[in-house]
Order: sequence, then structure tokens, then C-alpha cells
Amino acid sequence: MPVTPVQEDVINRLMASMTWEQKLAQLQIAFRPRLEDAAELVRSGIGAVFWPRSVEATNELQRIAREETQHGIPLLVGLDVIHGQRTTFPVPLAQAASFDPSTAETDARVTAQEAASGGVNWTFSPMIDVSRDPRWGRVVEGFGEDTYVNGVFGAAKVRGYQGSSLRDRDSILACAKHFVAYGQAEGGRDYNTVDVSTQRLRNIYLEPFRSAVDAGVATVMAAFNTVSGRPAHANQQLLTEILKNELGFAGAVVGDADGVVNLLDHGIAGDLQDALRQSFAAGLDIEMGGNVVADHGDARLGHDDLPLERVNDAVRRVLGLKVALGLFDDPFREPEYEVKSPTDTSRRAALKAAEKALVLLKNESVLPFGLGPKRILLLGPYANSTDHLGAWVQSFAEPAGSLADAIRRECPEWVLTVREATGFFGGEPDLIAQAVGDAHDYDAVVVAVGEPSALTGEASSRSDLRLPGVQEELIQAVAATGSTFAVVMFNGRPLVTSAWIDGAPSVLEAWHLGLEGPQAVARALSGVVNPGGKLPMTFPRSSSQVPIYYDHENTGRPARVSGTLDGGAVDVALMGPGNTDDHYTSKYKDLDLGPQFPFGHGLSYTSFEYGEPRLSAPEVLLSDLEGGQTVGVEIDVSNTGSRSGDEVTMVFIRDLVASLAQPVRRLRRFTRTSLKPGETRTLSFELGWNDFGFWDNDARYVVEEGAFEIHVGGGLDAAAVRSLHLRL
Ligand code: GLC
Repeated sequence: MPVTPVQEDVINRLMASMTWEQKLAQLQIAFRPRLEDAAELVRSGIGAVFWPRSVEATNELQRIAREETQHGIPLLVGLDVIHGQRTTFPVPLAQAASFDPSTAETDARVTAQEAASGGVNWTFSPMIDVSRDPRWGRVVEGFGEDTYVNGVFGAAKVRGYQGSSLRDRDSILACAKHFVAYGQAEGGRDYNTVDVSTQRLRNIYLEPFRSAVDAGVATVMAAFNTVSGRPAHANQQLLTEILKNELGFAGAVVGDADGVVNLLDHGIAGDLQDALRQSFAAGLDIEMGGNVVADHGDARLGHDDLPLERVNDAVRRVLGLKVALGLFDDPFREPEYEVKSPTDTSRRAALKAAEKALVLLKNESVLPFGLGPKRILLLGPYANSTDHLGAWVQSFAEPAGSLADAIRRECPEWVLTVREATGFFGGEPDLIAQAVGDAHDYDAVVVAVGEPSALTGEASSRSDLRLPGVQEELIQAVAATGSTFAVVMFNGRPLVTSAWIDGAPSVLEAWHLGLEGPQAVARALSGVVNPGGKLPMTFPRSSSQVPIYYDHENTGRPARVSGTLDGGAVDVALMGPGNTDDHYTSKYKDLDLGPQFPFGHGLSYTSFEYGEPRLSAPEVLLSDLEGGQTVGVEIDVSNTGSRSGDEVTMVFIRDLVASLAQPVRRLRRFTRTSLKPGETRTLSFELGWNDFGFWDNDARYVVEEGAFEIHVGGGLDAAAVRSLHLRL
């Protein structure tokens, strides 16, 4: 981290007087030990610990570090503050669905204030692993399948956590993770092999980390997986040549939990000393696990294991973080100011974020129900469940309420009958029959289903993406009654809905929305809130259709719905049902073309229309573009419905002919706009050199001359296309 000359002097004087063992002791963070164990480790000189769960305990560890060690170096105090400390915001995948990065920045700002008040000064967030495979449980922690969205949201989180200055007492170090391509794990199976080409590594997985580094992220976490055969934890090309030298990252690289120890199972290290040596030589700066210096200060690495300048570089990076945080001046936090529960302000922020994350997948004029008196039957395991905080919930987070209670509070004139009818797993068919038998007696039925958060997150890959248990049967039973009903899904990944979606008139995607999630859903059901989110990840038709994503290559034989053989390649994601007549094309014989719901899909209680897009010029010289000239894109969007609503407008490009096969669409800009009925807004975007090019397999960024399409509108099926020519 950049330090002032005075701070540099502090670091140099410290370094000059530190022993080899004392330097190595700064290059590790121990797990959540019991407080008495942590105190012993701190006395031995360890440089970082996990948060000991209270400001008093943290202050005691900082006091020991300052007063009972030779150099009095204060501690980094880390914790996974992923989307909330006391006030839990929507899971990151849901935040991405808002397509409003201010929700992520607000989450990170509020979360940092709460965590910092307890003595935390380092979070292991944002997770910006692009992933196209919803079988992978960790898609819940990232911002979906698009590189640009992960970059924008990751940078927003970094700004929120780190604030305007790291010296501010409510700023904490951010950590971009997991470097790199963790989301490409084969089979969507966590920790599994990753093998990617240079062009794919750079164009898809690396770019969000560039954005985080450009946003000033203080730390980066290495990923568990191999990348083309070499584990990230011991991958010098990744950690040093690309991250530190090419991207200019000046902070510290931290290992993931036991990621160094895992090198033994990877089979690239014969013992722990070898694993440590390879990792630090590759560019790791902090080992997570507490293995560098054994208890009581015996270093596992000798002078022959690592060049002194590598150790000094790592120590300088760690001390630079502590100086930047102002820890040498005051590492303590006042107990009376520790935030231990949400405030009205933080609850309002979490509610707003939850409302913006809602995605209306279908609506055949069932929703909204309105606030007026009506009899509502609420069914399903998520009727009374309070499992809304998501996979990274901490034990001390404020618990959420239930949808049933939220409806009672937000919709006081509704007469609500609640029958869970089934659990998340298993269930009795006759209980379902009993629960839906009188469905016709109600004005409407709400079926609240989903996957519990325990099925999402780390080490939680699923091979079957359908609703677990007999929840599908519950929905089908309600559909069979012919009643008016809406399905609300609470889930942490794209799910397969094909068994019931056609029979469900209205479907609201409600993710795991955090502390205020139930309130947001109740307000959307009544219509107080108009959902405006869009899908940040493709919803497949079947579990075996993955990976499936919008920015796919066209292939040499793209499937097309018959009658559209117009020579132009039609994006399979735009395909409707019905297989192609053209036999020799890329498709499944037993599955309709394209996804169930494509990336960018999301409806509203109102309607929007777009005017013709306008480009600042039909062509531009490559030399001008490289010199900084931009291409302006303008479009008018109108709210043509009867109520206010938010619309997400997206700008995609397509490079029609290039030296490497290009995606049929690449998202380059997006914005979320609130429009009153009848209101029209002109939206303007600027596209430049960094938007039109791609990385090739020689790791060169190239912008090639030729014809591009610019697609602007409310999603992938943006009808408005304008050709742009980049000329030599
Ligand atoms: C976990 C996760 C990582 C997290 C770390 C510390 O294994 O992979 O994202 O930050 O351990 O809890």
C-alpha cells in the first residue's frame, strides 16, 4: 500500500531490528483460536488473528501485541464480513440482481462500520469469482456470470469497505477473492480442477480483479484450485507476474484457509515446509492457518528456504497495511461504541437493497395483490422459515423474521392462512392434498418455496438444481386446483423450474435477501414495491444443461429456431421453445433451445419502451479510439405503464469478425433508472478502447478493426441494434 515517507521510515526502522523469526511471524493469520490460545500466539509475535468476537477481547489482544512483544507491532484482525455483520444485506448474487452497485457499496459501508466498531480491521470480501455453473454452491457469494458486473460490484464493495481513507476508524481492509478462476471448477464441484486457456482466463476471470486493484483493494486471497495444473497458492505467474507486476497490486496476498497445507493433497509439495516455501516464493504474503511459525516462535522456514528480499517484501506489504490503517497510532476501539445490533438506518438500507434485488420472472396479471382486504393462503416451507440471511451468516448476526409475520405486518388488511404443507426435504403427499384442498376459497395463494441456505455456499455443490424435497409437487398441486397463485422462490443459485414453471402464473425470485428480506417480499406481493431486478445468472432448463451463459461463443453450427436461417447467427439464449429443424447444429435432442430464463431477464408491474438508439458516429478510427476517443450511445426509455418502476438498461457489443471467436454478446454498460408513469429519460453511455477489445492467447490485449453490433435495451433480447465500424 502506498505509504508516506514518515511511514516508510517507521517500517524501515522496524525491519532493521526484526529477526528472521519475527519477520515470518508477521506472515500468517491463525484460525479462530480460543482467546487464551490467541493471547499466547500474539505474545509469540503472530501478525494477524481472526476476530475474537468482541471489542474487549480484541482490545486485549491488541494490548498484548503493543505491550508484551519486542516491537509492539499491532494486529490485523480479520473476519468474513461478506454481506453483513449485525445487519445482514442480501447475498451478493442478489445484490448483483439489482444492477445497482450503490446497493453493494452501501452494504459494505454499513458492514464496515459495524465490524470496525468491534475491532475488525480486515474482511475477506468481495468475492468476485465469475461463474457460469449454478451447481457450484459459491455462486451465491459472487456477482454472477458476467465479468463486467463482477468488476463493477467488486469495486463498489472495495470502496464501501475501505471508505475514503483507511485511517478512518470505520474503514476496514477489503480482500478480493479468490484469485483466480475458482468459479470455473470442473463439474461445478467445489475445489475441483480449473483448466482455462489464456484468453479465457484473462477475458473472463482476471478482469474483475483488475477492477478491484484499480479501486485500491488492500488484499487479495489466493484460490484453492489449480489453474492449468499449478495451484493458485503456489503459482508465481498468477501471484507475482500477473497480479503484482502486471496489475500493479501493492497490497498483500493472503492464502485461503489451509490453502498452503492443501498443496500436499494437490501433490505438488512433499511436506509442510516445502509447501510454505513454494507458496511464499510464488508471491504469497500471509499464510492462513498459522503454520509459518510454530507455537512459541520456531520458524518452519530457514534462511536457505527463501530469499531474504522475498521475506522482506512480504513483511513490508503487511506492515504497510498496518500503517495505512493507523494501527501503530491507535489499534483500540471504544467498547461503548461497539455496534451490537441493527439500527433503523441500517435496517432501512438493508430493506432498500432487498427490494432492489427482487426479480419478477413471470406475471400473468396475478401480482400485485394490492393492500385491500383479501383472503390469502400462504403455503410452503418458506412461509414460516426465518432462513433468509444466506450462506455467510455469522452467529452474532441479527436473525430475520418470517414471510408470514412480514405479511401480517405489511399487509394488515389481508386475512392470512398459513400451512407449510411440506418441509424443505421430504414431505407427505396427503399433507399437500390437505393443504391445497380448499385453495379455491381464497382470493389468492402464495407458495413460498426454495432452497435452505445450508445447500448454498462453500463445499455445497449440488448435482440436481431443482427445488429440494417435494416442493415441486406442492406447486403442481396448487396449479391443479386452478386457483389464482404466485410462487415466491428463496434460493442462493439459479434453480431448474421446468417441472412447474408453465403452470405457475406468477413467479417472484426472492433469493436470500438478508435481515429485511421477508419485508421486501411482502411489500412486493402487495404492490407497495415494484420489482425491478434482472437475473445476473442464467436459469437453465435442466441441471445437465449447465454450464450455460449468455456470453457464449456462437460455434460453427449454432442452433436456430426453424425459419430464422437468415445467415446471421441468432443467439441461442434468445431461442424460444421448440428444437431446430437443422439437424447438424449445437443443441440437445431432448431439450428446448436456450435457457429457461436468460441473463438479464426481469419483468415489472409496469411496462417500458425504448426509442431508436443513437451512436455518436457510425465508425471510428482505431487510432482515435486508442487515443482516448469514445463512441457515444444514446437511447430514450419510457415508462408506458400506469405505475412507477425501475428499468435496468444494458449495453452489449458483438464483434462480428475477429481473430478469436467472440461471444454473441458482451455486456459493456448498465444502468438502473426509476421512471414515473409516462416519463421518458434519455440515457447516455460512452464506450472506449477498453470496451471493444479482448485478450488473445499470447496475453496481448487487442482491438481489431471491423464491424460491431451495439445492442441497447432492457436485456438480452434488446431489439435495438446499431452497427459500428472500427477502422484502421
Ligand atoms: C474459507 C473460504 C474463504 C474464507 C476463508 C476464511 O475456506 O474459502 O472465502 O474467506 O475460508 O474464513
